[in-house]
Amino acid sequence: MAAAATNIVLPFLLVLFVHLSFGLVLSEAKLDGNTTLSVLLEVKRSFVEDPEKVLNAWSESNPNFCTWRGVSCGLDSVDGSVQVVGLNLSDSSLTGSISPSLGSLQNLLHLDLSSNGLTGPIPPALSNLSSLESLLLFSNQFSGPIPTQLGSLVSLRVMRIGDNELTGHIPASFGNLVNWSLLVWPHAVSTVQYHPNLADSANSRI
Ligand SMILES: *[C@@H]1O[C@H](CO)[C@@H](O)[C@H](O)[C@H]1NC(C)=O
Ligand SMILES: *[C@@H]1O[C@H](CO)[C@@H](O)[C@H](O)[C@H]1NC(C)=O
Ligand SMILES: *[C@@H]1O[C@H](CO)[C@@H](O)[C@H](O)[C@H]1NC(C)=O
Ligand SMILES: *[C@@H]1O[C@H](CO)[C@@H](O)[C@H](O)[C@H]1NC(C)=O
Repeated sequence: MAAAATNIVLPFLLVLFVHLSFGLVLSEAKLDGNTTLSVLLEVKRSFVEDPEKVLNAWSESNPNFCTWRGVSCGLDSVDGSVQVVGLNLSDSSLTGSISPSLGSLQNLLHLDLSSNGLTGPIPPALSNLSSLESLLLFSNQFSGPIPTQLGSLVSLRVMRIGDNELTGHIPASFGNLVNWSLLVWPHAVSTVQYHPNLADSANSRI
């Protein structure tokens, strides 16, 4: 009798558990439009000068952020919601820094802020961008160490962070990123083919 009851309850609990964890994953990953809007406006505020006025349309009065310069949107494959998948403000004469809030754009695949006058650190919060495939920050004036947390970006294929003022060593955590097809180190002009032992062998100063 007790065994029979267990046989019924256990599958029920399993279904409930799977259902609950799926719901949790969804609510954690998806940003609604208003939240995305305020994240993007926070990102805008962290840029100080915009002499080419590329961010002119970035405004609360123009809330369709998918039409903003440099922003690309896509539909989420799970719930069909509109999400920011690309941010490209390269070569736009921007100064200021990268807002850590950028790390909450969970669906971002491509981030290109190369060839600007941006300063400050590369925010460790960018390691929250678990779908990120390309990270292009080369030719700015970023300083400080390369955040070890970026080693957790499992989808990253291309990372170019050269021509900045970064200091320190290549973090050993980058050895986890076995999928990089292209990797350009600071000051390097050539393309380096990534192999898993690189993090061990490369204790070069940068
Ligand atoms: C977004 O904000 C507007 C105006 O403040 C509000 O009417 C709308 O319900 C909000 N949408 C969501 C999804 O929160
Ligand atoms: C970003 O935009 C610039 C200028 O339009 C373009 O040259 C560059 O390839 C773009 N970056 C990416 C990653 O598509
Ligand atoms: C990044 O993720 C951590 C842990 O999940 C969270 O505490 C933090 O608020 C997130 N930061 C951003 C900018 O999304
Ligand atoms: C690594 O790349 C291969 C081929 O592009 C892909 O099939 C695989 O899913 C990738 N792995 C991760 C962890 O992104």
